[in-house]
Amino acid sequence: MNEFLKVNPWLLVEEGFAPERIKSSESLFALGNGVMGGRANFEEKYSGESLQGNYIGGVYYPDKTRVGWWKNGYPEYFAKVLNSAFWIGVDIRINGEELDLAQTEVLDFHREMDMRRSVLTRRMRVRMHNDTEVEIEAVRFISLDRRELGVVRYSVMPLNRDAQVTFAPYIDADVRNTDANYDEKFWEEVRTESDAVQSRTKKSGFEVAWAQAVTLEGAEFQVETRPERVCHTSTVNCRQGEKKTLFKYVGISSSMNHPAEELLATARKVAHEAQETGFDALLERHEAAWAARWHSCDVTIEGDDEAQQGIRFCIFMLLQTYTGVDTRLNIGPKGFTGEKYGGVTYWDTEAYCLSFYMATAGQEVARELLKYRYNQLDKAIENAGKLGFGEGAALYPMVTINGEECHNEWEITFEEIHRNGAIAHAIAEYIRYTGDKAYLAQYGLEVLIAIARFWAQRITWSAARKQYVLLGVTGPNEYENNVNNNWYTSYIACWCLRYAAEAAEWVRRNYPEEYRRIVEKRNFDEAAECGKWSEINAKMYLGEDRELGIFLQQDNYLDKEQMTAEQLDPAERPINQKWSWDRILRSCFIKQADVLQGIYFFQEDFDVETIRRNFHFYEPRTVHESSLSPCVHAILATKIGDMDKAYEMYLRTSRLDLDDYNREVEEGCHVTSMAGSWKSVIEGFGGMSMEDDTLAFTPRLPRAWRALTFRINYRGRILSVKVTHDTVLVENEGSPVTIKLCGETLLLDKQATRSL
Ligand code: BGC
Repeated sequence: MNEFLKVNPWLLVEEGFAPERIKSSESLFALGNGVMGGRANFEEKYSGESLQGNYIGGVYYPDKTRVGWWKNGYPEYFAKVLNSAFWIGVDIRINGEELDLAQTEVLDFHREMDMRRSVLTRRMRVRMHNDTEVEIEAVRFISLDRRELGVVRYSVMPLNRDAQVTFAPYIDADVRNTDANYDEKFWEEVRTESDAVQSRTKKSGFEVAWAQAVTLEGAEFQVETRPERVCHTSTVNCRQGEKKTLFKYVGISSSMNHPAEELLATARKVAHEAQETGFDALLERHEAAWAARWHSCDVTIEGDDEAQQGIRFCIFMLLQTYTGVDTRLNIGPKGFTGEKYGGVTYWDTEAYCLSFYMATAGQEVARELLKYRYNQLDKAIENAGKLGFGEGAALYPMVTINGEECHNEWEITFEEIHRNGAIAHAIAEYIRYTGDKAYLAQYGLEVLIAIARFWAQRITWSAARKQYVLLGVTGPNEYENNVNNNWYTSYIACWCLRYAAEAAEWVRRNYPEEYRRIVEKRNFDEAAECGKWSEINAKMYLGEDRELGIFLQQDNYLDKEQMTAEQLDPAERPINQKWSWDRILRSCFIKQADVLQGIYFFQEDFDVETIRRNFHFYEPRTVHESSLSPCVHAILATKIGDMDKAYEMYLRTSRLDLDDYNREVEEGCHVTSMAGSWKSVIEGFGGMSMEDDTLAFTPRLPRAWRALTFRINYRGRILSVKVTHDTVLVENEGSPVTIKLCGETLLLDKQATRSL
C-alpha cells in the first residue's frame, strides 16, 4: 500500500517529504492534456533520484533494435515517444544558497493533484543551510484549452528573516532518455535564442520549439543562454512574510502541427499571449474545459471513498492521455507518465480503451481511434508480407507508432497475433454502440478483409485431425509461448472470418459504389474468399474438455501440474520477478485473462453456466501479473453473481497504481488498464452492455457501496445512471431513446426507474 497518499474523492494528496517515493509520486502526479504531458518532477533543483519526463504525443525516435540473436523479420527499430525539454524548471537561490530539495531540510511538504481541474499544487516549508526558512508554493497545469501551453506559478516567502531571492526560470533541451538502447542522445539543437530553444529529433526529424515568457512583479530579468538552454534570472529583496510570485508561461510547438521554420514564432506567440491573458484567466479557461470533460464521464461511488478515488484517478489519467483531437495520436500503456513501453500503441487501445472513449468522449473520438488503424492498413499488409503472407493479408504490429512493427521478441512479434482480432472486434463494438454502420463502407471493411485474409493463411489444415488448426501462437497469456490451438486466438480468428464476410455482404447490398471501390482497391473476390473463410469456420478445431466443461486454453494445457495461485508462497510472487522463465513457461500459471478474455468479448455466445465453469477453473490459476487482467475478471464475476470476487478484482484494478500493487509505479502508471477499471464499474457493477443493438443495463452493486452513479455519452446524448441496492434510475439529457432496463425494453424520455 502507498500509505502516504490520503484517500479523498477528488484529490490526490501526499503529505510529508520522503526521497524514496519521489519517483512513484512523479508518476502518480503526472499532468497531461492529450497532446503532451509530463511527470511530476519538481520545478526547482532536485539532485536526488528522479526520472525526468516530458513527452509530446507523436514525437518519437526510432531507437535501433538491440537483441542478443537476430531473427529474420525483426524490426530495425523501436519507436519511442521520447523525453523532451525540461520546460518547468525554476532554479531558486535564497540569500545566495541554491535550493536543492535533496540537500535542504524540508520541514513540511504537501502535494496535491486536483483531478477535477488537472492542477498540480505543492506547498512546502524548507530551512536552508544559512538558516533562512521559506515557504514555497508551486502551481502547475498543462492547458486543456490551449493545447500548446504549460503554465507555472511559483511563490517564495521568507518566514524568519528578510531574504534575497533569485528566481531563474529556464528551459533545458539538453535531455536524454533513460531508455536508450545505445546510450545515444536523441535530440540535436536547431537554434537557441534569448527566450526559446528549438531542437530536432535525430533520424525521425521532428522539430519542437519551446519559448518562455516570465513575469515577476517589479523585477527585471537577465538572459543567460547556452546551446539548448535558456534562462531568465532575477534577484529580488523579499521582506520577512512577503510573498514573491513568478509566473512562467511556456509555448510548446512541434512540426507535427506547424512548418519547422515557423516553430519559434509560434511557440513565442503562445507564451506571450498567455502572459497577456494572465494566470487566473488561463486557469479559468482550463478549468472550464475540464468541467466539460467530466460532465460526460464522472462516476460517483457512495459509501466507499477508496473505490471512489480509485475510479476518479483512472478516468482522470485517461482524460489527460487522449482526447481524440488528433488521429495520429493514440494511448501508450503508460500515457505521459513514464518511458516504459515507449509511449506507443498496443492492442490495449482496441481491447480496453476504445469503450471508455466511445462512451465518454463520444462517437467522433472513437472513430478517430479506429481510423488510426485504417490509416496504417498498408503498413500492416507490408508487415504481414515481411513474414511471408501475401495477397493483401494484414498483420497489425504488436507495438507501433507509425504502423511499422517495433516489437522484437519472436514469441510476441510473430506469435502474439491475436492483436489482429482485437482490432476487428473494436470495429464491431464501435458500430454496435454508435449505430454508425456506414463506417464499414468508408473504412471498416477494408481492414476486416485484410485481417480475415491473414487468418485464412495463418490457419492451416491438419490432415491428422481432419480439422483446421492454428499452430505456434502466443495467447494473451504471455507466460506460455509457441503453443498450438490457443482457444482465444482461434475463437477470435473464426469470428473475424465470419464478421468480415457479413460486413462484405452488407456493404455490397447497401453501399454498392463503395463496395466496387473496395473490390478494386483491395482486389477482393467475395465469392471465393468468403467461401474459404466459411469452410475454415465450419472445420476449425476449438479445444474443450468435456469432462471439466471448459474451453482448453491450448493443446496440452491439462498435462501441466495443476495448482492454484493461492498455493504459491507469497514470497515467490510476482513469479515474473522471482522465477526463471523456464519455470514460468512450464507452470500452469496464467499471466492475464486468456480464455476468459474471449468469453468476455463474446459473452452473448455463452450461457451463464459455461461462463461460471470457465471462470472457476481459470481464475484461480491466474496470477494477474498484467494490469489488464483483473478488470476482465471483475466483469465476468458480476455476470456469474460472485460479487465479492468482483469487488476484490475491482479494487485491485482501480487502485493498482495508487496502492502500487506491483511495486513499479515509479516507472509510470498503467494508463491503458485504467480503461479496464472503468469497464469493470460500468459493464460490471453498472451492468451496461449492448443487447441486440440496444443499450441495456442490468446493474448490481457490491455490498460495500451505497450507490453508484455514472454518466455516459450514448449516441450524442448524456445519460446518467444511478444504482442503489433497490433501484436503478436512468436520466436522459437528450432526445428519447430505446434502452433495456433490467430486461425490459422501453423508450427512455426524461427518466425511467426500476426496482432491483
Ligand atoms: C501485457 C500485454 C499488453 C502490454 C502493454 C503486457 O504486460 O501482457 O497484453 O499489451 O503489457 O500494456
